[in-house]
Amino acid sequence: MVTNLILKGQTLSFRDDPFLVAPDAAIDHHTDGAVWIKDGLIERVGAASDIVTAAPDVQVVDYGDKLITAGFVDCHAHYPQLPIIASYGEQLLEWLRKFTFPSESKFSDYDYAAQASAFYLDECLKNGITTASVYATVHSNSVDAFFETATKRGLRMACGKVLMDRNAPANLTDTAQSGYDQSLALINKWHNVDRCTYAITPRFAPTSSAEQLEAAGTLWREYPDTIMQTHLSENKAEIDWVRELYPEALDYVGVYEHFGLAGPGAIYGHAIHMSEREEKALRESGSAIAHCPTSNTFIGSGLFDMRSLRECEAPHIVGLATDVAGGSSMSMFSVMRSAYEVAQLRGYSLHPVKAWYLASVGSAHAMRLNHKIGNLAAGMEADIIIIDLASTPLIKRRMADVETIHDVLFAQIILADDRAIRATYAAGNLIYNSGNIDD
Ligand code: GUN
Ligand code: ZN
Repeated sequence: MVTNLILKGQTLSFRDDPFLVAPDAAIDHHTDGAVWIKDGLIERVGAASDIVTAAPDVQVVDYGDKLITAGFVDCHAHYPQLPIIASYGEQLLEWLRKFTFPSESKFSDYDYAAQASAFYLDECLKNGITTASVYATVHSNSVDAFFETATKRGLRMACGKVLMDRNAPANLTDTAQSGYDQSLALINKWHNVDRCTYAITPRFAPTSSAEQLEAAGTLWREYPDTIMQTHLSENKAEIDWVRELYPEALDYVGVYEHFGLAGPGAIYGHAIHMSEREEKALRESGSAIAHCPTSNTFIGSGLFDMRSLRECEAPHIVGLATDVAGGSSMSMFSVMRSAYEVAQLRGYSLHPVKAWYLASVGSAHAMRLNHKIGNLAAGMEADIIIIDLASTPLIKRRMADVETIHDVLFAQIILADDRAIRATYAAGNLIYNSGNIDD
């Protein structure tokens, strides 16, 4: 679709990694800023006066003092689990058995999966998430439904069929061969079609035999620009189980390394109980970690060590993720708030500019999409959100006392929810508008 549009407001973009340079040096913030969108891409970002002068005939949408920034990127989520969000009382392995697997078994039905995809993607838009790396279920149908629904909305999304050939209900398992064949067919149908990226998705080591992990590794070698996503070292009982199931492996990371499932484009969810060897091996492989703080607290898994994984000489690639529905919220504000609180419990304060970076550029980097999405910069795809910085009376009151953009971002992280997302653009098209026209 042809677009030529200027959005005016406050703009926030990243110039550098705030873990490597001071927060102020890492961002560009214009209080009177603008973003010029042309044919779905960002043509220019900067001071509104410069942009309007350069493009005097282009239509302007004036968002006043609202914040214009890149859409959030969620690098680990399970759309089929949204119906069971907020399920009480269990930790990982029981939670999977009692709530998750029964929910996922309904996705053999295409219509059910299409309706659930639409609901999930609408929630993403309301929460300003424009891209996510998503687990479907074992059923190919669930991937078709998801990509079809995402494509209708013009969204850049990654998704994959879950591979599980053991330790799961019979109606949710495949085999090493059928899992390979179905994934291959889905890659041929969807990978790099429109804005879709295929993610090879072995659920985690306990639900895949060695043959299945071997087949997943082979497929990834054959299609190296797909994503490979799985879970790692989330829960102590899970880790003990992996040791029993793969006694010859060095450790949990060693299982994935052995089958060729580590490397750039691999996204490991959680990674909260790693040994020094595992941390080093993961970093040296170029794999990324999806930090899922709302899930790690909600299902009682543990506290991610942001300081040692990111605040160091050789940092890991880290993105932020909702992990719905182990995660208890669709809001990236909640995820950033939880990341801050978890870091506090480990004696480290996660700066708001760093949290925001992880929720956008960091997650895009984990997905190897940071040259396309996750930031406002010339040439990037125009996936953009408009944030009302005074979306509740309490936030409005807090804004009366802020001094810097850091304070503004921090107050949003701690206090905001989906009411703050005023509008969402995908590839330059307005696809969600909250209707709160109360400037
Ligand atoms: N480990 C294996 N499967 C899952 C899942 O669906 N959610 C979470 N949080 N952890 C997992
Ligand atoms: Zn997960």
